[in-house]
Amino acid sequence: MARLAYVDGRYVAHNAASVHVEDRGFQFSDGVYEVISIVGRRLIDMEGHLDRLERSLKALDMPEPVSRPVLAMIMRELVTRNRVREGIIYLQVTRGVAPRDHKFPAGLKPTLVMTTKHVDFLNQKRLSDGVKVISIPDIRWGRCDIKAVALLPNCMGKTQAASAGAYEAWQVDTEGFVTEGTSSNAWILTRDNVLKTRGLGPDILRGVTRDSLMRIAAEEGVTVVEEAFTVEEARDAREAFVTSATSFLTPVVKIDDRVIGNGAPGSLSCRLQRWYIDYCTGVRGNG
Ligand code: PDD
Repeated sequence: MARLAYVDGRYVAHNAASVHVEDRGFQFSDGVYEVISIVGRRLIDMEGHLDRLERSLKALDMPEPVSRPVLAMIMRELVTRNRVREGIIYLQVTRGVAPRDHKFPAGLKPTLVMTTKHVDFLNQKRLSDGVKVISIPDIRWGRCDIKAVALLPNCMGKTQAASAGAYEAWQVDTEGFVTEGTSSNAWILTRDNVLKTRGLGPDILRGVTRDSLMRIAAEEGVTVVEEAFTVEEARDAREAFVTSATSFLTPVVKIDDRVIGNGAPGSLSCRLQRWYIDYCTGVRGNG
């Protein structure tokens, strides 16, 4: 069966799916998106992702393309039609098609597209072995809390990481504090055993995985401190990890040229990862 994409009301062959050349998403990155993981055919944290999509649309004064129940229905339908057991669904909403003009034209019909991809996330070696990250200056705009498709600095950072043999780049603000990864949130367990991740604000995306992990940590009696940490603190940390819909909880074992802990994923990271995966597979409930 051919892989399908959803484009504005139609399920079409993935390799023939397209949008208009004057779509504002294409010309101005005038759009927002979500990436939701699929584990055992279930969309993980769909409500949290749809909540964030609504916040992103609102922040950019963009209308919802369809109602929330319809959106959820289309997502489920595409996952079913493409028989995705493990993978992701990508959803993008742009302001729509109009003759090129910087100012937002009124009354446009938003463009809605969705694609899916098969990925066997839970069997990836990086979950068990951990990964390297590098640190880079954060050169992004002032509204990183909006999940906008304008990801050029993130793409540059991720490419730089890959060239350095690393999985992710941690972006560092002008005061020396880590903001987040290019497509994930950053966490450390400090020398003094404090589990830290940066507090919410315009400098980071509020990760849905971050939210779920905070909830799970609280249920397990693990305290999370929402506080910025410096890149030095990170290099000195006992443990470190990243979270996102596609990396779940991936341990970090090296930051720049500094080995974290003994070079293997830390014990708290491993426990948190186990709990989070149990949540995704339904062993814990509510996945
Ligand atoms: N990225 N920070 C940034 C900049 C991100 O792009 C992402 C997710 C996250 C983590 O958010 P969540 O836990 O909701 O996935 C944090 C997705 C996976 C992407 O762009 O592919």
